[in-house]
Amino acid sequence: MKHYLSLEDLPDFDQAITQAIALKKEPRAQTHLGRAKTLGLLFFNNSLRTRLSTQKAAKNLGMEVMIMNFSEEGWQLEFENGAVMDQGKAEHVKEAAGVLSQYCDIIGIRAFAGLKDYEEDRQEKVLHYFAKYASVPVVNLESALGHPLQALADAMTITEQAGANEVLHSQRNENEAWEPRPKTKVVLSWAPHPRALPHAVANSFVQAMKKMEVHFVISHPEGYELDPEITAGVPIETDQNKALEGAHFVYVKNWSSFKDYGQVRSQDPSWTLSSQKLKNAKCMHCLPVRRNVVIADSVLDGPNSLVLEQANNRTYAAQWVLGRLLEDNH
Ligand code: CP
Repeated sequence: MKHYLSLEDLPDFDQAITQAIALKKEPRAQTHLGRAKTLGLLFFNNSLRTRLSTQKAAKNLGMEVMIMNFSEEGWQLEFENGAVMDQGKAEHVKEAAGVLSQYCDIIGIRAFAGLKDYEEDRQEKVLHYFAKYASVPVVNLESALGHPLQALADAMTITEQAGANEVLHSQRNENEAWEPRPKTKVVLSWAPHPRALPHAVANSFVQAMKKMEVHFVISHPEGYELDPEITAGVPIETDQNKALEGAHFVYVKNWSSFKDYGQVRSQDPSWTLSSQKLKNAKCMHCLPVRRNVVIADSVLDGPNSLVLEQANNRTYAAQWVLGRLLEDNH
C-alpha cells in the first residue's frame, strides 16, 4: 500500500478488518515497526478522535509523532502550477510536501470539504497534492469526500458485533458456501443537524458496507440523496420507520444536501433516532454527536449504543494502516 487516501487503497478489505481486530489483543507487539520513524499530522480542521487515536496508534507502533494545526499555524498554501505568488499565499504545496517528507516517514492530513463548490471539493486538493508531491506515504484523516479510517473502524465494529462469519465474504465457512443465510441488516439513516455537514463519513460508510455481506439500506428525506456514483446499487428508503424494520445496526449521521450542494434543506426532528425507533438494533455514530438532535439521550446512554466501541476501534484501524504503510514503504 503506497498511501491510504480511500478504502480502495486497502490491498484486501477483509484481511485489514480481521488483522486490525487482532491488534487489540496485543497492541504493543509491533513496536519494532515504527522505531526511529516519525508520523506528521496536519490538521486543517478540528478533531478529537482522529487526532488522539492516530497518535495512540503511532505510539503503539513505537513511532514519534509531530502535530500541526495547519490552518492556524501554517502558511497559506498555493496549489496551482506556475502561479505568480504575489498575493496572500506564501508557500507552494510542492515545497510544503517536500519539506514534510524530510521530517516524517508518514504524513496524515485532515482537510474537510468547503461545501460551497462541489467541483472544487471533489478535487480534494490538499490531500491529493500532498500525496503527489510528498516522497512518503500520506494518510487521509478525513477529506472532502471520505473518512476511510472511520469507515475501517466502523466495519471492524460491525464485524466484532455480528461475527466475522456473518459479515465478511472471505470468512464464510466453505461447508456452508451453498447455504443461503439471513443477512445482517445495516441502515444508514440521515438525522437532523443545525449546521451544514460534509458527506465524507456517509460516503466512506457506504463504500465499506458495499464490501461486506450485509443487507444495506440508506434512509433519508427526499432531496438528501448522496452522490449517486457512490450509492449506486444501494436501496434507498425515504420512510425512515420502514427502513428501520428488522435492522440489526443503525448508523445515524447527518449530511447536508448533495443536490443543493452544502445546503441545509431540512431539520425535521422526526428523523432524530429515539429508543422507540431503534428497538433492539445497535446504534452507531462516528461522533461528535449532538444529543437529542441527532440521537436521543436514551439511545446514547443505553445498552445498544456502540459509539464508544467505534471510537476505540479508531486506534486499531489507524494502527493497521500505519503498520502496513511502514512495512510496504521501508
Ligand atoms: N469521528 C471523528 O473523526 O472524530 P473527530 O472529528 O473528533 O476526529
